[in-house]
Amino acid sequence: LPDGVNEYNTIYLGYPNWWGTMPMAVFTFLESFNFSGKTIAPFCTHEGSGMGKSERDIIKLCPGAQLVTGMAIYGSSVLKSDEEVRKWLQDYKGLRS
Ligand SMILES: Cc1cc2nc3c(=O)[nH]c(=O)nc-3n(C[C@H](O)[C@H](O)[C@H](O)COP(=O)(O)O)c2cc1C
Repeated sequence: LPDGVNEYNTIYLGYPNWWGTMPMAVFTFLESFNFSGKTIAPFCTHEGSGMGKSERDIIKLCPGAQLVTGMAIYGSSVLKSDEEVRKWLQDYKGLRS
């Protein structure tokens, strides 16, 4: 784990969708630090479940954080997703609370 997240305002959180949400190690990361006042931008790879319930889980684990609407990409499409990634980075204005 990193020492902390104090020096960051925005955290890009990437993970594979496992069983409809984040792998347990990512839960542990989110449980380990205070994300209040931070912006979290989640993105995942998946094989059909999209973001699953991961965004709801992040909101539960990170009270006071702002969550950007996530980006889900098929694992098999990663190599041709440049455009989608660029677009997401540009207009993730769909902020959730
Ligand atoms: C333990 C495990 C659980 C998984 N659960 C899901 C799931 O619930 N939904 C889904 O869409 N993909 C699931 N996957 C597929 C992964 O999301 C996928 O392997 C990952 O995004 C990487 O894509 P790739 O294997 O094409 O590189 C799971 C994979 C593993 C290993």
